[in-house]
Amino acid sequence: MPNYDVKELHLAEGGRLKIDWAEREMPVLRQVKERFRREQPLKGLRISACLHVTTETANLMKTLQAGGADVVLTASNPLSTQDEVAASLVSHDEIEVYAVKGEDNVTYYKHINAALDHKPHFTMDDGADLVNVLHQHRRELLPGVVAGTEETTTGVIRLHAMAADKALAYPIVAINDALTKHFFDNRYGTGQSTLDGIVRATNVLLAGKTFVVAGYGWCGRGLASRARGMGSNVIVTEVDPLKALEAVMDGFRVMPMADAARIGDIFCTVTGDINVIDAHHFDLMKDGAIVANSGHFNVEINIPALEKSAKSKRLVRPFVEEFVTPDGRRIFILGEGRLINLASAEGHPASVMDMSFANQALTLEYLAKNASKLEKRVYAVPEEIDKKIAELKLAAMGVSIDTLTAEQVRYLASWQEGT
Ligand code: ADE
Repeated sequence: MPNYDVKELHLAEGGRLKIDWAEREMPVLRQVKERFRREQPLKGLRISACLHVTTETANLMKTLQAGGADVVLTASNPLSTQDEVAASLVSHDEIEVYAVKGEDNVTYYKHINAALDHKPHFTMDDGADLVNVLHQHRRELLPGVVAGTEETTTGVIRLHAMAADKALAYPIVAINDALTKHFFDNRYGTGQSTLDGIVRATNVLLAGKTFVVAGYGWCGRGLASRARGMGSNVIVTEVDPLKALEAVMDGFRVMPMADAARIGDIFCTVTGDINVIDAHHFDLMKDGAIVANSGHFNVEINIPALEKSAKSKRLVRPFVEEFVTPDGRRIFILGEGRLINLASAEGHPASVMDMSFANQALTLEYLAKNASKLEKRVYAVPEEIDKKIAELKLAAMGVSIDTLTAEQVRYLASWQEGT
């Protein structure tokens, strides 16, 4: 039995059923796993992964293990762990896992340190917390680290800041920036799983509600479109004029949060920034407003300010905390302001994580061969990997497409022909 810190090992059998269920919807990763088993491209490599401990991540861990890697997994968020999945990885796959749903911040960082004790050659991160601890507190391990990957928008932004400061000690590939990742995971994954999280937590009817989406990046676009699909009147708030214009032309009402705050029934932040819903916004909200976040960190809603001003607070259902303001209005905060799609639901469905995690697996294979040629900066996923994943996914879905004729190839390469 490997070292571990998970909730209860007896949950393992249920975890295995769920992991297998997710695998059905991950045909691309399945193919990668079969090839990895034959070719062993990661043989002998130690990997420390800091990812949401879900059924989909379990399938990624099993793929890397099939490829010969020695993997350790720690949670990338205190509330996103599926305890039965963590138990199954330990019991059935002999993978070291450090993750307990609801762990406090001290335990969260203790777990990241335990994953780093593995002395990784490669790091895999979702939000850059592991990379952060490694660079700030575990520098003695840096000479042994060859390269890494980063899953999410928030983490990639942090890594670019590190690279600009010349603080990044090894090359890291931004998985998020692959088209087969953010076009699908951020848009359709976040769109569906965020509504799933809000509905599972509250069981509110979305039809007819005024639903405020803060941020119109890929996640915001997906969320706004899905909320509209469920019959909500969607308002978008933005700071970027281009994205705001896009939201207007996509048919959404766009306005500052201070205006949206007065009329919204449900709010969800997906910006990656701090205090997007702030103290003065809570002052304007209607009685009964529901406020959630689906961005990576729990900083987008200023909960400490609400906590300070509130007359009382109590948990009214799992993941739903009621705050009563001094003038008697009730504001409901979901999932402690942590990403609601993973806190009260199960994160993105397996079918989109299939592509995100195929990017992870194939990029690690690429890094195992090529990392020594790379500099200490943030890299894109190689285009061939992105394209291959799109081809494999289409094939797995039974969709075939046209190919260019020889005449079309010639035409695209020419410039002489006009009207
Ligand atoms: N991020 C969002 N959804 C996820 C999932 N299902 N598994 C791992 N990471 C995720």
